[in-house]
Amino acid sequence: MDFEIEAFERGAVAVLSDRVSTVLPTIVVADPRRSAGPVCARIHRYPADTMDMYGVTGTNGKTSTALLLAAGLAASGEVVATMTGIGLQGPLTSVPTARTTPEAATVQRTLGRFRDEGATAVALEVSSHAVSEHRVDGVRFAAVGFTNLRPDHLDYHGSMDEYFAAKAELFAADRTAVAAVGIDDVHGRRLARLVDVPCWTWSAADPRADVVGENIECTDADTSMTVRTPLGSLHIRLPLLGPHQASNALTALAVALAAGKDLESVAAGFERVRSVPGRLERIDVGQSFLALVDYMHNTEGQRSLLPFVRSLVTGQVIVVVGATGERDPGKRFPLGATAAALADVVIVSDESPLSEDADVIRRAVAEGARAARSAVVMVEPDRRAALALAVHTARPGDVVVVAGRGCDTEQVYGPEFDDRVVLRELWSDIV
Ligand SMILES: Nc1ncnc2c1ncn2[C@@H]1O[C@H](COP(=O)(O)OP(=O)(O)O)[C@@H](O)[C@H]1O
Ligand SMILES: [Mg+2]
Repeated sequence: MDFEIEAFERGAVAVLSDRVSTVLPTIVVADPRRSAGPVCARIHRYPADTMDMYGVTGTNGKTSTALLLAAGLAASGEVVATMTGIGLQGPLTSVPTARTTPEAATVQRTLGRFRDEGATAVALEVSSHAVSEHRVDGVRFAAVGFTNLRPDHLDYHGSMDEYFAAKAELFAADRTAVAAVGIDDVHGRRLARLVDVPCWTWSAADPRADVVGENIECTDADTSMTVRTPLGSLHIRLPLLGPHQASNALTALAVALAAGKDLESVAAGFERVRSVPGRLERIDVGQSFLALVDYMHNTEGQRSLLPFVRSLVTGQVIVVVGATGERDPGKRFPLGATAAALADVVIVSDESPLSEDADVIRRAVAEGARAARSAVVMVEPDRRAALALAVHTARPGDVVVVAGRGCDTEQVYGPEFDDRVVLRELWSDIV
């Protein structure tokens, strides 16, 4: 057992494991991960049973959707807490996190804290890893929402079918009371047919869905649409950028309505969301070009966002791109290739190589970018220098998109680095 001595020294009194500890009394179980959720739920006096739990899953848009949903629930009178890839946010808690869904013990301890702080509802981002690793076992949801499903994380799940199965598990009757599913992708349509709890569908295209987004208009300042629902229609304006945020809002709305919330209140809550940090976040420091920081970590995100970004400007699209270490190596070449297919200038840089060799990752991304044979490709390993190169390349009417780390400030192999802070600093260096 790897950490038993450290755990003992830090006050642990027992171990839950599939092996007997030599140091501490052990509760031996066949699958410790499967037991951890329910055991920790009990230790913290079943916090999830005292609040309404809302889960959001899918390949892209989980964090944005969970935060929109939280705002909608708050406007409906709930005291809301959130557990997302951005952080743990409770009535009195605010902790940045690096991970989409924490381990079961942290999930339950945090829920206990949220309950003690007076939360009545929790919006939880649930990754497919979290479902497979039983991190939210022991949590029964009031409602779960599904954004979309694209080939990502296949290094971990093996195949699209397994990935689908991991996500679908959350929609079973023993896990949730109701569901909301996006039917704009083939997996969502399949999921909507399988779900055996009351299920609201949403779509930005198909008028047969329960919640439909119509006349979606996206500018460089906001996104607006008319939502048509069984409870009436309404015009919503989101201060978030991109058609994908309309989809995320539709997911959040369908979840809230499926759970019985009031349309007007939820929509009013959405409009109060100022931004989702690092998700097409505008950096405005008086520069003559548009600058956006985004957490674009797969080709699907690039394909959804870059054409929209191009539509905002008359000039060039300059993208800083990289790939994070310790993730699917098969993603690197396509990330470079897709960026180059959709942008005019691609600057390949390092992005949290973690324990991996940064050269190897960077080379794969750059090879992809060059293979596309459409954009100017530059390579600048140092992230600050890469951002500076982008800023110096940009002319009035261009757009710089720093894709990858979003609002992530965790480091990796050097000091703390926040794309948004560095972009601002670089501009003040110039003027
Ligand atoms: N509905 C969507 N469809 C496609 N891409 C999206 C969508 N929502 C977000 N994205 C992309 O994924 C990135 C991460 O968004 P986020 O809301 O944090 O989702 P997640 O938590 O699933 O990673 C965004 O910065 C954007 O590039
Ligand atoms: Mg996330």
